[in-house]
Amino acid sequence: MSQIPFVATPPPGTQPEFHHPPYVSSIARSPRQPLVLLPRTLSERTGPVFGHATVRPADADLTAQHDGDPIGERIVVHGRVLDQDGRPVRGALIEVWQANAAGRYRHKVDQHHAPLDPNFSGAGRMMTDDNGYYSFRTIFPGSYPWGNHHNAWRPSHIHFSLFGAGILSRLVTQMYFPGDPLQPLDPIFNSIPDEKARQRLVSRFDIERTEPSEALAFYWDIVLRGPEDTPFEERKR
Ligand SMILES: [Fe+2]
Repeated sequence: MSQIPFVATPPPGTQPEFHHPPYVSSIARSPRQPLVLLPRTLSERTGPVFGHATVRPADADLTAQHDGDPIGERIVVHGRVLDQDGRPVRGALIEVWQANAAGRYRHKVDQHHAPLDPNFSGAGRMMTDDNGYYSFRTIFPGSYPWGNHHNAWRPSHIHFSLFGAGILSRLVTQMYFPGDPLQPLDPIFNSIPDEKARQRLVSRFDIERTEPSEALAFYWDIVLRGPEDTPFEERKR
């Protein structure tokens, strides 16, 4: 029988609190009983796996999914997916979704009166390569209001979902942008008690990768475990 890999428990305060009353939805959503840890078994390795065939390079360009150009500032987001020892995580499926430049999702429950963009769907996907590297092109997402409290606005962010080799290992988180004045006011961002851990959700501006006359670039590594790991709002692994 194969060894099940050792998984370090994240240090206290570095992951979001399930029950964080300033984030109002977390009150009803959070468990009332202590979590039960299920034993890890080989099913994490022998379940269904993703192939590469269905993920096309074009899926990683959210600016080219329609006939015209979307409105907004073009950006490139890139980085690496790493394990607790800094080794690349190859072949991970990354899915991203976000609001358009005006702060509106293409989704029926989003009734913000900002305009939809007929040339922007706001969803993409890609696989990490042999170096754990990923990259995609999109539009800088706008801030949007939400009903959590009076005058609540989400900082600009992109939602990320990561699947490992199988569909039983899924992580969900959000990436933010540097210098956003809404971050200190955001209950979701602040549901992570540890300041350094919170900052691990903030990408850095990358002038080296910025494309002249074309697109700003932002760099963001995702670390799956260990003391430096990325905060995840959802973990299934
Ligand atoms: Fe969002």
